[in-house]
Amino acid sequence: MKKVLFVLLALALCLTATAAFAEKVGVSMPTKDLQRWNQDGANMQAQLEAAGYEVDLQFASNDVQTQLSQVENMINSGCDVLVISAIEGSSLGSALALAKENEIPVIAYDRLLMDSDWVSYYATFNNYMVGTIQGTYVKDALDLDNAEGPFIIEITAGDPGDNNARYFYQGAIDVLMPYIESGKLVVKSGQIDFTEVATPTWATEVAQNRAENILSSFYADGTNLDAWLCSNDSTALGVANALAANYNGTYPIITGQDCDIANTKNMIAGKQAMSVFKDTRTLAAQVVKMVGQILKGEEVDVNDTETYNNNVIVVPSFLCEPVFASADNYKELLIDSGYYTEDQLK
Ligand code: BGC
Repeated sequence: MKKVLFVLLALALCLTATAAFAEKVGVSMPTKDLQRWNQDGANMQAQLEAAGYEVDLQFASNDVQTQLSQVENMINSGCDVLVISAIEGSSLGSALALAKENEIPVIAYDRLLMDSDWVSYYATFNNYMVGTIQGTYVKDALDLDNAEGPFIIEITAGDPGDNNARYFYQGAIDVLMPYIESGKLVVKSGQIDFTEVATPTWATEVAQNRAENILSSFYADGTNLDAWLCSNDSTALGVANALAANYNGTYPIITGQDCDIANTKNMIAGKQAMSVFKDTRTLAAQVVKMVGQILKGEEVDVNDTETYNNNVIVVPSFLCEPVFASADNYKELLIDSGYYTEDQLK
């Protein structure tokens, strides 16, 4: 009995010592409202804990002030590294200044932190390539190089406060612009510029409202839509909802990004043509590696030191590769890889 007690005591002491010495990583995610950030948060936490770190994971309800105070708390409570996915890239200046004062390295996660010299590294997917994949899909699906056309398209982009949104938009527009200019592709609403097609907060309802307005103003006469370029899945869902209620023509190609569950179901049902798969496990693994390299004082793996200028510095970045997804390859990408179970998609 005594022996057992001794072993238990030793074990307890050991655990307390580990907890006291484990380095702490603060992980700040923008919101729980969109599926991907829940997955990102869960993956980061699981992988960081498996690597022996203590984790302070917070979600900020898409509210900038909440994110600011959460990050400040992480700093004040002794986090050794911060991993931040910003709601608004340029709104965390005071928290980053505090991190700088305390010399706490900061990794921008998925979204770049803007207007600060205190961003150590950036880990994301190749955001421009996401847009290229979407634009190229539209070009090929409509066979823009050979078919006579003209084809009718509308465009929905992301949140102007998120640096990624312009990269997605630009990647797609660079592919499609020559066809818009030649008249083979017609944006019937005339809304083409990023500022006209953006979706503040990336919200499904915001995208849906705009799509409903466009449908009633420009398509009530029975004009058929051939494609609706959407930068991501939450906005694609809004467009699909608007079409379901306000449109009787031939169903258009809709693009997306993230392979959210609702959108993957829509792909299977033929209501969304494609998405872009960004395996959040890969990004989390890369960031866990970065955290380890930073804390051990090792050289940090990056593969891009030119693209991501945050208006003050060019942030050394690691870009993971996004992958085209559709009803044809979702099983292999999402189910065989263990990202989702078959039941989740029923
Ligand atoms: C992410 C996308 C996501 C969007 C909305 C972007 O910063 O890169 O994957 O769909 O935010 O949450």
